Amino acid sequence: YVKNTKEILEKASKERYAIGAFNFNNMEFLQAILEAAEEEKAPVIVATSEGAIKYIGKGDIETGAKLAVEMVRTYAEKLSVPVALHLDHGRDFKVIMAAIKAGYSSVMIDASHLPFEENLRETKRIVEIAHAVGISVEAELGKLKGIEDNVVEKESVLVDPEEAKVFVKETEVDFLAPAIGTSHGAFKFKGEAQLDFERLKKVKEYTQIPLVLHGASMVPQDIVKLANEYGAELSGAKGVPEDMLKKAIELGINKINTDTDLRITFVAYLRKVLSEDKSQIDPRKIFKPVFEQVKEIVKERIRIFGSSGKA
Ligand code: G3H
Ligand code: 13P
Ligand code: NA
Ligand code: ZN
Repeated sequence: YVKNTKEILEKASKERYAIGAFNFNNMEFLQAILEAAEEEKAPVIVATSEGAIKYIGKGDIETGAKLAVEMVRTYAEKLSVPVALHLDHGRDFKVIMAAIKAGYSSVMIDASHLPFEENLRETKRIVEIAHAVGISVEAELGKLKGIEDNVVEKESVLVDPEEAKVFVKETEVDFLAPAIGTSHGAFKFKGEAQLDFERLKKVKEYTQIPLVLHGASMVPQDIVKLANEYGAELSGAKGVPEDMLKKAIELGINKINTDTDLRITFVAYLRKVLSEDKSQIDPRKIFKPVFEQVKEIVKERIRIFGSSGKA
């Protein structure tokens, strides 16, 4: 269990590969992620959103953050790979403080919805607090939204590399998530997948720190198809193609956030298992084959990211 996420991301940045940052909301997803990382001999980041902390703590932030730390620490102690626990999209000061106090390895301050100067001020405030206790901080610039061809729209949504340079220097943030055209969830692009690689290249050149890609799920079409065959309604679901992920890594992405690919795999196989064994009522027997598949998708992601064998 690593105290500071920075250790594993700076190595990835130097050697040009990416570490998977996988979201979890409960024990089974956490187990699947950690088993996958151990089998791939890959350092891994597990992350909880504010919503996940509230879910785990049944509405109580301190309880949720503490349980997340205890679960991760207890499992990670048995493993050979480095495991970091990260707060994803921290917006509420109270949740960020609860995560820091509970023992998270890093926190994200997401003030990207605020004007640049306020985002900078807010990020700097969190960096000062987190660095004082030896944990690292991620911030975001731009908005996570699919991009249109229209230039005016692009400029208002995507990261400005010149701003990124000033932002990193002023805030001393440890890793940065630059918006380059991805978005959260299972429906990322209306037409063709499109990312702004030129911008990404400039941000890396100007900042020289580990960069983070949010909204990076692939949304595998065979899994979407399987889910739909068993009654889901997910037509039109689309993610970031594998070759684009690889290109983003070449240009400086070192942390790849993934939630949707795990969710969609879970739902597809849960539907399949329930429909194929209608007399099964033991949740453990239902979950076992489902989470084997979640583990497989995590392993596939880790191999694409190039972090297999890097532990
Ligand atoms: O950033 C989005 C992640 O997929 C977490 O989402 O807020 O539903 O837990 P959530
Ligand atoms: P996906 O929805 O593409 O999995 O992105 C997750 C994410 O960015 C979490 O911060
Ligand atoms: Na994050
Ligand atoms: Zn995100």
